[in-house]
Amino acid sequence: MDNRPIGFFDSGLGGLTSIPHLFNALPNERVIYFGDTARTPYGSKAVSTIRQYSTQIADFLVSQDVKMLVIACNTISATCLDELRSKISDIPIVGIINPTADRIASECDQDNRIGIIGTKVTVSSGVYRDRIKKLNPILKVFDKATPAFVPLIEEGIIENEIMDLTIHHYMDNFISQNHIDTLVLGCTHYPIIRKNIERIYPSLNIINPSYEIIGSIAQILKDKDNLAGEDNNRENVFYASDLSENFSNMIYKILETEKSNLILKFKNLDL
Ligand code: DGL
Repeated sequence: MDNRPIGFFDSGLGGLTSIPHLFNALPNERVIYFGDTARTPYGSKAVSTIRQYSTQIADFLVSQDVKMLVIACNTISATCLDELRSKISDIPIVGIINPTADRIASECDQDNRIGIIGTKVTVSSGVYRDRIKKLNPILKVFDKATPAFVPLIEEGIIENEIMDLTIHHYMDNFISQNHIDTLVLGCTHYPIIRKNIERIYPSLNIINPSYEIIGSIAQILKDKDNLAGEDNNRENVFYASDLSENFSNMIYKILETEKSNLILKFKNLDL
């Protein structure tokens, strides 16, 4: 048994979309979350910059005595997973892409038309496509960068016609020309606009990696006998490098909780 918290991190508020699924599946677990809201978005930055930022965050979370690191960000998982694992070898590090790619490879067949949307960095890395095709070469996989979604979401522009127009702009041709039937939300911010996407393209089967990652977390904690016990009385703590009004508003909305139930902290990573 291990009551230490799990460290989650993302470029901003996107990684929060995994947390309700974690609490549903493993209610005794606690988290320390870090959102790099001062430097978001990462998805159009140079890989060397993303490596530098994510190493700073991982070091900070390790200094908080977490029992596991979860990279709740596709962009960082696509570019920095191996490097972070080689730097930090004493606790497990879970990336968000492989669990989803593995599920698609085992559950989809040659009749499916799989579309992956994500940031420029995630899509140009080809990590989803390569892993899915390696495991199941007959699958048909298409991808598309949708870089304006993250800045709009971080600004709180969600249930709004600007967001709907942006979805149409990026996705109408992508979906229709490639006859996509299965869509992977390859950025942890995108579950926040899932309802918009479902309304605009109601027949799509949507796959949410923010949910898929939970099975891997549970499996590793069970295998290592590191699950938290029912007596776990630690708090969940949420850090942001810029505690903006929108981050504070969104966190309560995503976690569906009252303000008094959360500990929010500002953490400057010596920018
Ligand atoms: N949530 C991140 C991801 O999953 C965000 C990307 C960004 O900061 O551009 O890729």
